[in-house]
Parts: sequence; structure tokens; C-alpha cells
Amino acid sequence: MCGIIGYTGDRDCVGIILRGLERLEYRGYDSAGLAVLEDGRVDIRKAQGRLSNLAELVKASPVRGNIGIGHTRWATHGEPSYINAHPHADANQRLAIVHNGVIENSYTLRQGLAQKGIAFISETDTEVVAQLLGYYHTGEMLTTLYRVLPMLEGSFALAILDRERPDTIYCARKGGPLIVGRGAGGSLIASDIPAILSYSRDIFFLGEAEIGAVTPEGVSFYDSLGNPLEKTSVHIDWDIDAAEKDGYPHFMLKEIHQQPKVLEETLRHYVDMEKLAVRRERMPFTPAEAKALRRLTLIGCGTAYYAGLMGQSLIRRLARLRADCEIASEFRYSEPLIEADEAFIAISQSGETLDTVAALRLAKAAGRPVIALCNVIGSTVAREADQLMYTLAGPEIAVASTKAYSAQALTLMILALDLAHLRGHMTTAELKTALRALGEIPGQAERLLGQKERIQYFASRHFNCKKIFFIGRLEDYYLAMEAALKQKEISYIHSEAYSAGELKHGPLALIEEGALVIALATQSRVLDKTMSNLLEAKARGGKVVAVGQSPTPELLAAAEVWELPAADERFAPLLGAIPMQLFAYYMALQLGRDIDKPRNLAKSVTVE
Ligand code: G6P
Repeated sequence: MCGIIGYTGDRDCVGIILRGLERLEYRGYDSAGLAVLEDGRVDIRKAQGRLSNLAELVKASPVRGNIGIGHTRWATHGEPSYINAHPHADANQRLAIVHNGVIENSYTLRQGLAQKGIAFISETDTEVVAQLLGYYHTGEMLTTLYRVLPMLEGSFALAILDRERPDTIYCARKGGPLIVGRGAGGSLIASDIPAILSYSRDIFFLGEAEIGAVTPEGVSFYDSLGNPLEKTSVHIDWDIDAAEKDGYPHFMLKEIHQQPKVLEETLRHYVDMEKLAVRRERMPFTPAEAKALRRLTLIGCGTAYYAGLMGQSLIRRLARLRADCEIASEFRYSEPLIEADEAFIAISQSGETLDTVAALRLAKAAGRPVIALCNVIGSTVAREADQLMYTLAGPEIAVASTKAYSAQALTLMILALDLAHLRGHMTTAELKTALRALGEIPGQAERLLGQKERIQYFASRHFNCKKIFFIGRLEDYYLAMEAALKQKEISYIHSEAYSAGELKHGPLALIEEGALVIALATQSRVLDKTMSNLLEAKARGGKVVAVGQSPTPELLAAAEVWELPAADERFAPLLGAIPMQLFAYYMALQLGRDIDKPRNLAKSVTVE
């Protein structure tokens, strides 16, 4: 959500900024812009719509310089337009700033400045910050920041150019992420690692309420009171190619295909597959803690929440532990009842989702331990949690999450098995059998991907459908939720997930000719029930599909069946996710959607 990039060094910054913004496109945006300091003045170029519009503008009206900042904007205050696009300047055109986040008191601040005679050009909260910095400028940017930042309520990641300091990019954050790296003959800042990974692998993370002054020679960090900070960089060993499409038409398809490898790597990270034993040192709970635990609350948003529901279900079932997964944005305002023997798991691919970060802080403020289940090294969730379980999915670029979901669900399954064993609900022999079965999943996922043409063909015949219901029971219900989300996100077809047993309590009235009903059916103990619900939908004119293992001849005769390899059914939802992702992908492809960057959505949601 909004992307920031900046460069100061001995090269021309414009190409570096445009390439960086391309790498941040996945975060979602509706306009883009850049500001360059050249010959003692701030030169701004901005364009509505795609980044290619900005690139063309820069070609038609060139700009050059050794220091600049760029931005992709995802509209919050004011419509997507040229005027509202960043960068924004102060009244004297001394400063240019880009911003990610929301200034919640911007209306009041704007009124205050207007009374002092400041005229505003845009509707944005960002211009309010630019004008504040201009109005209260002390002649020196750091002291100006100490004066102005405390006035801002809400969240921000800011990058600022000051024409009087033509070698320095100032940056500050509260909420939104910002990183700093050294490379390309200078220094770079960005909101996310892929933007600067081809120039820098040793990254500094700007902490909460910290300020950075970035020059070609290096970077100085300060706390909110102006005290200098010593920081050590984190080495990022992601493959640079991981941020490229590798011949796939979309990042999403590439990421779907990476899942067998991601599952294998995540599994081997947490499990010694030779000894069939969980790697104790990488698990969050000691045997004593696992036994003492009375309650586990999982928190996440979007896909991470659905992975959490899957984890909740297995932790309850296998470890006989009270586990509840909560939507972070609900949890944080719900005056939650946090208990003394409760632990938390904050699940987030990006590690920057504002609501998840807020929920994590709430749990920590209540003195409870928080474990991060996170994909991005050095992210806020990863840094602020007491313990970390990394998912080894590598950079996920497509907005719709696929491989990160699989890695999250798998990690939670391993945790459920470990807790079950430590709490005495699973013998060591049973644990080994389960881990062996889990070890089969990556290969089974690979085989499943080999059957994608069937789903592609089905999508080519049904992409005009008006609504899709995904139904399932137990873990399959949670899988249905993720399937419906994938479909909504990228094909824009109205999709709902329903617990199969609830179908006849309302939604059945919506089933008519032209509706698609997809039953997720990986759990044998409720298979018959789900299938009879599916056939009820068929009798009302729905086109029905069943996704499961070992289909009966009757089912094959009654429905379109997408067969899954015969896996241990505790882990089969990991396989069931793959045809659901492919189905969403091929429906969206048929409909000509912008698959990697669906409308109105952002990869990293750093505002409420
Ligand atoms: C956005 C993304 C989703 C993601 C959710 C939570 O909505 O588009 O793909 O599931 O945020 O993100 P997180 O980074 O916290 O997992």
C-alpha cells in the first residue's frame, strides 16, 4: 500500500527510482510520481494511473539529478488524480515529500495552517505534512522533524528532500515500514526489500518513531528525542530472481508453482525429516510451556486469518488446546479478555499489516507472549514479537497470497503436531507417522500442479458465471473461505464461503441456473454430509464441483471432480488450496483481469 523509494549517490537517480517503483507495483497504487533535486530546485513529475504513464512523462519532459524520491500512491485522502499524487511540496517549494500511511488529524492541522494563510493545492494529508514542515522549518531538517512529527496522529513513513541539503534524504516512520540500504554508488531507501535488492543486500530497518538522515556516504539514525542510534544491518539472502516472473505470465502463477518447493523448505526448516523429529530449537514452546499452556489466540487479516483458522482447528483437534483465531481489526477494538496463561500468534506475510501490528501490541501490553508467524525478515511483526517462526516462502509479489498461505498453514500444522506430542495427545510413533505423511505433501502438490489444464478448461467454460459458493465443513470450511477470497480478489466474481451445513439456512435460496457451487471435501468424517449438501445445490440448478480424495463412482457421475492425491487428511487442505488458487487464476485470466495487481487492493495494508 503506497510504495516509497529514494536514492542519493553518484548516479542519476531517475532510472533507479523508476525501477524501484516497478518492484513496488505489487503493493497496489493508482498514481505515481517522483521528485529530483537539481541545480538547487525541486523538480516534480507525477502521473495518474500506471507507472508507464510516469515513465512516458519523464521521457517527454526529462529530469535528471543525483538525489530523488519516488512514490506509488494508493488513494486514501482524496481521489486518485494528478493533483493528489505524491510528491507534495511546501508553499516555498523548498521541500518535497512522499508518504505512506494516514495522518488521522490532518483535517484539524489543515484548518490550523489555512488560518495562518497557507493555501493548499491537493486534498491529501501528505500535503498537510509538507506544509507543516515548511511552515515550522527551523532552517535545519532534523530539528524541524522533532518539532513537527509529534503533531501528527496516525501512521506514516515519510521521505523528504530539502533543497538546502542537496545530498540528504530524510526519513521518518511511525507505523509504515521503511528500509535503508547502501549500494549503486550511494544510499537507498524504500518501503520494501525488492525495490532495492538488486543494489543492496545489507538492509537497515528504520524502527518505530525513528528518524534517518541518508547521504551518499551513509546513514545516521536518531530516536524521537534526537539521540543518535547505532544500528546493525540485516543480510538478505533472497534470490534476486525471486522478484522476477521467470517466464510465467504473472507472479501469481509463478508463486502457485513455487509451492512444492516452499512447502519442502518450510517443512525441512522445522522438521528433521531423516529423524522424523521436530527441531526443538525452532519451535516456540518448551515441553513445560506446552503442557502449561491453557489458551492460544491466533491473529491475522485476510489470507493470514484463514491460515490461522486452519491452525486453530488442528491445534484444537490434535493438541486438545483451546485455540481461537481472531480477525486483527476486530480483536484490537473488542476489549478482548486476555488471560494470564494465554499465548498469542500474530500471523502476517508482510509483517507490516497495521491491524495485526496493533493487535500484537495489545497482547504484549497485557504482558502476554507473542509469537510471530511471518515471511519478511526484519518486519515490524517479526521484530516486535517475543519469538519468531519464519515461513520460508521467499518474496511474494502478487497481491493475492498463495505460497505464503501454504507456508503459514503448514507451519501451524507442524506446531499443532508438536503441541499434540508435548501435551501427551500423540505418541512419538504417531508423531513420526504424521511427519512422514507431511513429508509426502510437497511431492503431491507437484503432481497436482501437473493437472492444471483441467481447471483451465473448466474456467474457459464457466468464467461468465455470476456467483460462486464454496462450501465445506470443519477444515474444509476454512479452506472454502480462502478459496472464496482468492476468487473475489482477482476474478471479481461474487464468491461466498459457507459451512456446508448452513447452506439450507439461507444461501440455498440464491442457487439457480448459472451459479457455481464448489464443495471442498478433504475430511472423510463429514464427506457424506457435504456431498449431500452439494447435491441439494445441484437439484436447484447449480453447476457443482467436488474437490477431494478418492471420489466414489456416484460422485464422479454426479459432479465435476477435481481429485486430490491420497494424502493424510489432516494435511490434505494444503493440497486442496492449490486447485482453488488455480481456479481463481484461470477465471481471472479469462476475464482479462489485472491478476497480480487487482483493483482497489494492496499487498501490504499499512492503514486501517
Ligand atoms: C492484504 C493482502 C492479502 C493479505 C492481507 C494480510 O489484504 O492483499 O493477500 O492476506 O493483506 O497481509 P499480511 O501481510 O498481514 O499477511
